Amino acid sequence: MKIVSVAGARPNFMKIAPLMEAFRNHPGITPMLVHTGQHYDERMSDLFFRQLGIPEPDINLGIGSGSHAVQTAEIMKVFEPICLEHKPDAVLVVGDVNSTIACGLVAVKLGIKLVHVEAGLRSFDRAMPEEINRLLTDAISDILFCTEQSGVDNLLHEGVAREKVFLVGNVMIDTLIKNRAKADASPILEDLGLRAGEYAVLTLHRPSNVDDPAIFGRLLDSLEVIQRDLPIVFPTHPRTRKNIGVMGLGERIDGMKNLRLIDPAGYLDFLKLTANARLVLTDSGGIQEETTILKVPCLTLRENTERPVTAEIGSNQIVGTTPERILEAYRRIITGQQRRPQTPPLWDGQAAVRIADILARTISSSPAGA
Ligand code: UD1
Repeated sequence: MKIVSVAGARPNFMKIAPLMEAFRNHPGITPMLVHTGQHYDERMSDLFFRQLGIPEPDINLGIGSGSHAVQTAEIMKVFEPICLEHKPDAVLVVGDVNSTIACGLVAVKLGIKLVHVEAGLRSFDRAMPEEINRLLTDAISDILFCTEQSGVDNLLHEGVAREKVFLVGNVMIDTLIKNRAKADASPILEDLGLRAGEYAVLTLHRPSNVDDPAIFGRLLDSLEVIQRDLPIVFPTHPRTRKNIGVMGLGERIDGMKNLRLIDPAGYLDFLKLTANARLVLTDSGGIQEETTILKVPCLTLRENTERPVTAEIGSNQIVGTTPERILEAYRRIITGQQRRPQTPPLWDGQAAVRIADILARTISSSPAGA
C-alpha cells in the first residue's frame, strides 16, 4: 500500500516525523513524502527535518508564500500531477494549514482515499483560517484520526460516520517524548544566560494577534509588566518580525530590556526552553499540547481553543488578549495557584504506530480512482 504523506509548514514537521518512521517500519506500507514548501526558511523547515530525522522529501513542490488563495491554488496545481504519476492508495495530511486542505482536495477529486491526522479539532471561530481548513478537510476525509475525545464528538456531531473515526492519541506528543532526552542536552539556556524556572517563553504569530496594531499593542502592554519581574524569551516568527517593522513597534520593544527577541528556535532548543520555563505565553495550537505534557503553565493569548482537553485537564488557560485577564492569570501562576495538570488519554508516544496499524488493515490496495 502506497501512502503519500504531505508536510508543508513548521507545525506539520513534528507530526510527520513519527508517522514516516512508523510507515517505514511497517511491512505493509510504502511511504512517500511530499513537502509543499509552504515554509521554506532554514529555521522554519530544514532544521526540523535534520533534528527530527525526517527523511529527505521525495518531492518538494517549492510553493513558498502568497495569499491564501494563491498558496492553496499553486499547491493544488503541482500536487495533482504527482498523484496522477505515483497513483498512491492514500494521501495523508496532518493538521490545519493551507497545505492540508490543498492536497486533501486534490486527492479526493482523483478518487484517492484521504487520511486526516489531527481531525475534529474545532475552535468554532470561523475567522481563523485554520478552522476553515479543519472543517473542509474533515468533510472530505475517508479516515479521520483524533487526538482527543472532543475531536471525535465534533465529527460525529457533524455527521461523519462512526467507522471512519479513530481516537489514537497525539503524534506531536510522540515526537516530544522521543526527543526529550536529546533536548535536555541543548545548550540554549547557557547560550542565552537563563536559569531553569526563572524566565518565560513567548510565541506569537496568529494573524488575529500580530496583524492588528491595536491587539498587538495591547499584548505588549501585558508583556511590559511581566518582563519587569520575569525575563521573557521570544523566538520570533517571520510574520511577526515583519509586522513589528511595518507597525513601527521596534522602539517600544527595544525599550523592554527583559523581552528578548531571538530567531525562530529549532525543535530541540525550543523543547528545552519550554520544558524549563516558569510559564509559557502563546497563541500557538501545538504549544498548548506540549506544555500540558511538560506540566508547564501555559497562558493562551486567544479567546478560544480547538484543543479543549489542554484547558480541562492540562496546564493551559485561555486568557484572551486584554492586560486584565493576562496579568491576573500570570499572578496566580507566580503565586503558585495552579492545579496539577493531567496527561490526556493515549498521549503516550504510540499514536503513529496505532495509525500505521489501522491504515494497514483499513485501506485495501486498490488503484487510484477505483
Ligand atoms: C502557517 C499556518 C498556521 C501555522 C503557522 C506556523 C496557514 C493558513 N497557516 O501560518 O496555521 O500555525 O504556519 O508557523 O497555513 N515566512 C517566511 N519564511 C517561511 C515561511 C513564512 O519568511 O519559511 C513569512 C512570509 O512573509 C509569509 C509569512 O511568513 O508571507 C506567513 O507565512 P504563511 O505560511 O502564509 O503563514 P504562517 O503565518 O506561517
